[in-house]
Amino acid sequence: MDGKILVAPSMLSADFARLGEEARRLEAAGADVLHIDVMDGMFVPNITFGACVIRALRSACALPLDVHMMVRQPERYIDDMVEAGARYVTVHAEATPHIHRALQQIAEHPGVVAGVAINPGTPAQALQCVLGDVGLVLVMTVNPGFGGQKLIVPALDKIAEVRAMLDRIGSPALLEVDGGVTAQNAREFTARGANLLVSGTGIFRAPDAAAAIAAMKAHG
Ligand code: DX5
Ligand code: ZN
Repeated sequence: MDGKILVAPSMLSADFARLGEEARRLEAAGADVLHIDVMDGMFVPNITFGACVIRALRSACALPLDVHMMVRQPERYIDDMVEAGARYVTVHAEATPHIHRALQQIAEHPGVVAGVAINPGTPAQALQCVLGDVGLVLVMTVNPGFGGQKLIVPALDKIAEVRAMLDRIGSPALLEVDGGVTAQNAREFTARGANLLVSGTGIFRAPDAAAAIAAMKAHG
């Protein structure tokens, strides 16, 4: 890790009636990546949007799109996400009995980064067998499904655990964290080895999005 911190605003907290404008606003505010939460109403209780909205965002801004699939059997929609313009596609280890196959399916697409996510209730050990096959690991620090939830503090320990696992195999994979990240607490995540910070309410509810993003990056 070179100490560079990337910030990914979560569009879940954006004004859905003005998504394109919001994407461009975040781009101008210094975002590195746009985090897009795809929820199916099965893996998580909430439903958001799918490939057609991602395609619209693709043409609205130049930022790489980071698609977080909170979808049961994500294999069914991986190719659609890629075709819609996703640069990173992350699937949950809990969402399919065939996580290895799902990650291969993502990696088959040139230039697309395969990511694996784990919920707060899933041990870091669940990642062991696929760690060498991914370009991104996402450690959830809230239970997925909604923005604006309180950080689950014990989940922070898993960030350091996953960082050690990645370092052990010499993996350059991004270590992403998602849930309860703010400019004020960003250091808790980066100090444990996270280098891609997702933040929804921490950026969209901040008085100045650019200042919040800059503060998060300053914690590298
Ligand atoms: C939750 C989503 C998050 C969400 C985070 O299921 O995966 O990306 O937008 O929201 P905050 O940053 O408000 O906790
Ligand atoms: Zn997310």
